[in-house]
Amino acid sequence: MGHWVHSNSIVSLYFCVMVLAVVCCSANGCDLFAGKWVLDPSYPLYSASACPFIQKEFSCQKNGRQDLVYTHYRWQPLDCSLTRFDGLKFLEKFRGKSIMFIGDSLSLNQWQSLTCMLHSAVPTARYNLTRVNYVSTFAFLDFEVKVMLDRNVYLVDVVMERIGRVLKLDSIQSGKLWIGIDMLIFNTWHWWNRHGPTQPWDFIEYGGVIKKDMDRMQAFEIALNTWAGWVDANVDPSRDQVFFQGISPSHYNGTLWGEAKAKSCVGQKQPLLGTTYPGGLPPAVDVVKRVINKMKKPAKLLDVTLLSLLRKDGHPSIYGLSGSTGLDCSHWCLAGVPDTWNELLYNLIL
Ligand SMILES: *[C@@H]1O[C@H](CO)[C@@H](O)[C@H](O)[C@H]1NC(C)=O
Ligand SMILES: *[C@@H]1O[C@H](CO)[C@@H](O)[C@H](O)[C@H]1NC(C)=O
Repeated sequence: MGHWVHSNSIVSLYFCVMVLAVVCCSANGCDLFAGKWVLDPSYPLYSASACPFIQKEFSCQKNGRQDLVYTHYRWQPLDCSLTRFDGLKFLEKFRGKSIMFIGDSLSLNQWQSLTCMLHSAVPTARYNLTRVNYVSTFAFLDFEVKVMLDRNVYLVDVVMERIGRVLKLDSIQSGKLWIGIDMLIFNTWHWWNRHGPTQPWDFIEYGGVIKKDMDRMQAFEIALNTWAGWVDANVDPSRDQVFFQGISPSHYNGTLWGEAKAKSCVGQKQPLLGTTYPGGLPPAVDVVKRVINKMKKPAKLLDVTLLSLLRKDGHPSIYGLSGSTGLDCSHWCLAGVPDTWNELLYNLIL
């Protein structure tokens, strides 16, 4: 309610309502994903050293990153303010329930962030971290809350057949792992553009036709429609909540943020402080929005793309998995940007 008081013209009110009709915002009509980063010394929400289970690829401080200013930014929506994440309240709300992230290593990134945010809120509460095949489960035993991760890079199936590994755009058998989970947060994109030795399939199949390859953006859209069909057929919106994590951007080309000399995110210590990204949004964002907008049982888009595009400073760069011999401008340091994704998620489910 509060932000309406500040909107001083009927025109802007009307505009907000029009936008609300098209994109997903918060319940009170403020677009949480339009905003800017502001320095706030009360952030980060937890100290990386207080989260003992962060994987090496996101442990930037442990891997030698010295600058810390990047951890002190808070996302400030233009027309309202976010409610600060309250881990205890989150755990109480999900008592006896389960949450699952499904997707690639960006889902791993967000899952680890959420478990750190929750653990640091209740540091003495018992937890149990286990993994069976591709599913990791972080259980907060005193709250009977499970925060799970299903590593599944395409959502649709890759099946070993006589001819080789087939990426099946219209098959989503792994969906059986997702049934009955109270909150699902999906993600897929980064692996759709893989070619060469790290491409984990040999053929691509759709509508009974097998091909060696096809336009990857088109394949992505077909697969997302398969996923949307799964949600429409299997989710009970009165009981379950479904989110799509949105496209998490990389920073390998400084021209896109107005720094032509930068070839990557290395040495970036500050975000872009404006409200727009000079290089525009990746085209995959339109595909995601198109698919979500025509779902019968709508999934909410956790629209992290713009706010993450502004964070060229948030990646592990040379403080990731392979240290100074590697370069990671795709994942995000923890504490860091994915904490904001989770704070936004929190604001959408309050
Ligand atoms: C932790 O989870 C595993 C696998 O589900 C289970 O076997 C074990 O009993 C759990 N430990 C505790 C302390 O609950
Ligand atoms: C970086 O982006 C600019 C603007 O889109 C483009 O012209 C250029 O080719 C890109 N550079 C690389 C190395 O991809």
